[in-house]
Amino acid sequence: MTNARITLVRDFTLGEVPRRLFGSFVEHMGRCVYTGIFEPGHPEADEKGFRQDVLKLVKELGPTVVRYPGGNFVSGYNWEDGVGPVDKRPRRLDGAWHTVESNAFGLHEFVDWSRLAGTEIMEAVNLGTRGVDAARELVEYSNHPGGTYLSDLRKQNGSAEPFDIKLWCLGNELDGPWQIGHKTAHEYGRLAQEAGKAMRFVDPDIELVAVGSSHSSMPTFGEWEHTVLTHAYDEVDYVSLHAYYQEDDGDVKSFLATAVDMDYFIESVVSTVDAVRAAGKHSKHVNLSFDEWNVWYQRGLDTDDQPHNVSKGWREHPRLIEDAYNVTDAIVVGTLLNSLLRHGDRVKIANQAQLVNVIAPIRSEENGPAWRQSIFWPFARMAELARGQILRASVDSDKYESAKFGDVDVVDVSATWDEDNGRVALFVANRGLDEPADVDVSLSGFVVGRVSRAEVLRVPNGKDRFATNTLEGGEQVGLSPLTGVTVTGSRLRFTLPALCWAVIEVEVTRA
Ligand code: AHR
Repeated sequence: MTNARITLVRDFTLGEVPRRLFGSFVEHMGRCVYTGIFEPGHPEADEKGFRQDVLKLVKELGPTVVRYPGGNFVSGYNWEDGVGPVDKRPRRLDGAWHTVESNAFGLHEFVDWSRLAGTEIMEAVNLGTRGVDAARELVEYSNHPGGTYLSDLRKQNGSAEPFDIKLWCLGNELDGPWQIGHKTAHEYGRLAQEAGKAMRFVDPDIELVAVGSSHSSMPTFGEWEHTVLTHAYDEVDYVSLHAYYQEDDGDVKSFLATAVDMDYFIESVVSTVDAVRAAGKHSKHVNLSFDEWNVWYQRGLDTDDQPHNVSKGWREHPRLIEDAYNVTDAIVVGTLLNSLLRHGDRVKIANQAQLVNVIAPIRSEENGPAWRQSIFWPFARMAELARGQILRASVDSDKYESAKFGDVDVVDVSATWDEDNGRVALFVANRGLDEPADVDVSLSGFVVGRVSRAEVLRVPNGKDRFATNTLEGGEQVGLSPLTGVTVTGSRLRFTLPALCWAVIEVEVTRA
């Protein structure tokens, strides 16, 4: 049996839960938009072509903010192609994913869909092939009330009211040689500075995200953020981070510990950002936007569903990277969410990539059903329950050795306290492959009442960590009640099965 002691102290908090941490991402890639959220003619589609079965699952998942329209796609995209009468919109080659873009879905459709989903929009501008002018014009088209050519064009295209988009990404992954319009840090830093300035001249209330490193092992990591922010610190509010993880060569112990890498990545970017703040004698803080993260199995380029498989020709919304997630992946996703929440004093936005079909918690079939993947569950529960204050957790857990990260805590946790509804929520993972974990939680400064929720990710068929939810097999992986949670005074005790993710919520008042 593994042992873990967790101490939570009522006044030992990290600040308010940034609700934008539970963001997602819709890119014009593969089947995320087409046959994902949008499929005119599907039996469940409404009159605008939005799939109601998918929308229902999106609402259940509960993302707060959705980034759009890319990703690599945005670096070659003309936003003007996606507005105006649909039959007049141009069909274009999308070089990022070697596909054909019909432009049947564009900005107005995304705004309408976001309203139905109840999600905030995070709009990315093209700083790959385009620049300052297209970026400021898109802000004017979206946010200016009227009386100018672009704002009146928006009205003519059906939206009398401005879209009022607050959150804007200044391009995507421009540090990556794979990006259309890849730039050096100096080139990008100056462009972000000037584009940001011009966008804010149009709407001073917007928030801007500068492109950071595409992952922490980029050769330019650190130097990129330093140079970009040295140019653009005054203009931007956030710098981005992207990271994707997978189980390599059966090294499940390192895979289960990937939140350690996310911790390292976040803490390194915070240090770099703050070094630029000090050197530039800036008073404001630039925060972090982890606007792409997930598990992603990057297979060989000759695999059918891989991007850039040019031998397949120019296809329209082909199946691309539709990973089927298993129980282990869901546990890793739970720990990545824990890492984000534990850094909620500086990470203010995070977007799981992507929302539907493309490395996504929700899957859908063309003219067929939609369903939840295993990774749906930690996201859905944390998006629902992580509210109020982030509690700093002091964890004393047994450890295990991993090849990539050395000694790692077997039990991983994050916790929140919502004084308004009188609840403490704990999100815990047992990374142990074989042993259950006995967890003893001290809640100092609280009077602990009833256990209002206790659920554990169900591992079907005994211990099959590779179980997935599929079209044929249905939703095998889901949540079950976690039994045996006991409260004694201000102590909470429970046993986690081997290899699991769980949520426990208790009623509390101030002691
Ligand atoms: O989410 C898939 C792709 O991964 C995005 O388009 C890109 O930004 C990243 O490399």
